[in-house]
Amino acid sequence: MQKIIIRQATVTDAPAISAVHCSTVARWYALDANGVERPARYNDLTPAQRWLNGGPWMDAETCAYHLRRLIAGGGQALAAELNGRVVAEAELFTADEPEPYSRNLNLSVLYIHRNHQGQNLGSLLMQRAFELADEQNCETFTVACAEAPDFYAKHGLRHAATYTRFQLSAQTAKIDYLVEPLPDAPYDLVRGWGLPIGRYQNAGHDWERTRPHAAPDFPEWRGLRLERYWLAVGDERSALIFEESPRFPGVADTFLFTPSPLTPDTLAAIRDRAARSGFTHLHCFAPADFKHPDAMPLDYVHRLFMKRLRA
Ligand SMILES: CC(C)(COP(=O)(O)OP(=O)(O)OC[C@H]1O[C@@H](n2cnc3c(N)ncnc32)[C@H](O)[C@@H]1OP(=O)(O)O)[C@@H](O)C(=O)NCCC(=O)NCCS
Repeated sequence: MQKIIIRQATVTDAPAISAVHCSTVARWYALDANGVERPARYNDLTPAQRWLNGGPWMDAETCAYHLRRLIAGGGQALAAELNGRVVAEAELFTADEPEPYSRNLNLSVLYIHRNHQGQNLGSLLMQRAFELADEQNCETFTVACAEAPDFYAKHGLRHAATYTRFQLSAQTAKIDYLVEPLPDAPYDLVRGWGLPIGRYQNAGHDWERTRPHAAPDFPEWRGLRLERYWLAVGDERSALIFEESPRFPGVADTFLFTPSPLTPDTLAAIRDRAARSGFTHLHCFAPADFKHPDAMPLDYVHRLFMKRLRA
């Protein structure tokens, strides 16, 4: 008889969890000097190159690094064991944000080993995730990038929003604002605030992911900039983060944690700060109805699925 256990994952599960994620990768690639994907063999890839194929789970050591930070940063990882072997994993973060998300549990990862899909493990992990949402008094449960929408629909989640990555040029402007360094502090610093730019998962998850040292110190990524500011425009103070991506050097992936809605002045200040920092463009991940005359939508899109847990 098959014995299934759903439990908290620990750092020692990293090799098995990495194997789960790697089992779902159909082909491996390396970026050439022009940033073009070229077929490659797993064993020939450096840890940083593996990461670009699908994140920290693509290598046992970077997976351990990621799990250690996730757990220290208030995230939750669940493992599903089948007859004593870890064959599936889920990751979750809570956040407190303005409506419609309010107190939210977001499932950022749900992967079942390729050889064990369709054996109810995904459903058991979902069941445990809903129990965690209940224990933590969450009002909403989300999957921000649903790769298997029909599976989530079976579990009561509905399409609730679409997010798109927009590109804006960095541009100086005549606008008064102040910037100060943003401390490297836990999510409580911005708890309750919205994330009108850069909401890839939820505010708790994205805050942790943009803190210094979220990725190991890969030699190839050493020149990439992470700039974190308190940004004050008028009476409004927000947390602004620019993260330069290894795929798009010179482009700042932008995150704005703020207690109030995004204003044109704040956006102008962000573009000005980016230009003064030497970035050429901003990548702003925002609701698909984000409007700005200079914003160009790119083809990176998330369909967010949500279940409301309380009236
Ligand atoms: C999608 C996934 C998490 C589902 O987990 P699973 O353990 O294979 O699913 P279960 O065995 O619990 O299936 C439960 C039900 O959902 C259905 N289902 C499973 N995967 C599905 C999918 N991709 N799309 C639609 N329905 C799916 C099953 O047919 C089953 O239906 P039934 O109850 O009517 O028989 C898993 O297949 C997986 O890891 N896939 C690859 C990675 C992925 O896409 N992850 C999601 C990232 S957002």
